[in-house]
Amino acid sequence: MDRVVLDEWHVVAALESLLPGQEFPTRLFNTDLTLVRPAGDIVAAWPAASGKALPVCVRHGHVWTSLGTPAEPLFDLPFPLAAAGSMAIDVPPERVLDAFRDDGAVTPHPYCVLREHAAAALFIQPVDDDRCIVHLLARDEAGRAAARLEFAALKPILESQVPEGLPQPGTGSWYPVASSSDLAPRHIFHTALAGQELALWRDDACLANVWENRCPHRGVRLTIGTNLGTALRCQYHGWEFASGSGRCAILPARVTTYPCVERYGLVWTSLAGAPEDIPDLGAAYWQPVRAVFVEAPMAEAAAELPHRDGLKLFLQPVSDDRTVIHGLSSDPAVSLREHDELLTRLRDRIEGGEA
Ligand code: FES
Repeated sequence: MDRVVLDEWHVVAALESLLPGQEFPTRLFNTDLTLVRPAGDIVAAWPAASGKALPVCVRHGHVWTSLGTPAEPLFDLPFPLAAAGSMAIDVPPERVLDAFRDDGAVTPHPYCVLREHAAAALFIQPVDDDRCIVHLLARDEAGRAAARLEFAALKPILESQVPEGLPQPGTGSWYPVASSSDLAPRHIFHTALAGQELALWRDDACLANVWENRCPHRGVRLTIGTNLGTALRCQYHGWEFASGSGRCAILPARVTTYPCVERYGLVWTSLAGAPEDIPDLGAAYWQPVRAVFVEAPMAEAAAELPHRDGLKLFLQPVSDDRTVIHGLSSDPAVSLREHDELLTRLRDRIEGGEA
């Protein structure tokens, strides 16, 4: 933990949530804390592990403490604000900050956002690396109700944001990522390739798109948006991105798009470079069989693939330890159900179950 951050005051509770004389457990930067409010505005705080008293100040209707030694008093607010409720959210504090720092907001503290125009503020309590508690403040009762409503609506959207992460190496080949029939009209199909989440969708002219599942504005998953037929609309702020280019219609922003080819009834893509051609399966008619999801790395799945006439199997490395097996059949004498059973047995064998 950075010393400068450690030496800051950090919010740990709304004062009103501390009942006089009762211990109040909370957490700050992966550290369990205990708070006690003997009376009025007097509050004591200590780490549960050491019991050593921490500095405490009570301001803006909240309790603040520090795991270091604060050099400065806490910041002032330009007008009084009252506590409007506290909500835990399963995202890193930085993501909450990013989501609220726009529209003329100012940050009087590394984990606080003040929206002067709305007479409202957010104090963010970093709990763990990927979890925080957001303390809402507003000037009057109507503002407090509006702040609670807004945050309750945004919470599930923020929690659906895609974590940062780069595609793994070795993705400069074509991989099947869906069957063509998975891309139904006005639908968005969610999958992943080498740890990279993908949003697949078909426009009303039948063009298939393979996009990074991440809005370029604030990183929200595009799969929770809307397929408008010519564009995808992000669920959060409503930006729309055009089929094909991924460009935003009104702002200079663009979704990361990947090459997309439909062949043999499968949708193929590549995350890197200009890959070699998709495997040439000749002129036979190929029909996709139901894909199976295997809890195993691609190499383990590859080692078990059977060789059968009239059946071609291809692997989609979803992540380090998950693989999808896509199959194509050219043998009309073998029913799709038989292929289905074969792939189910194959999955059981790869995962170490019954053969
Ligand atoms: S996150 Fe703002 S439009 Fe997508």
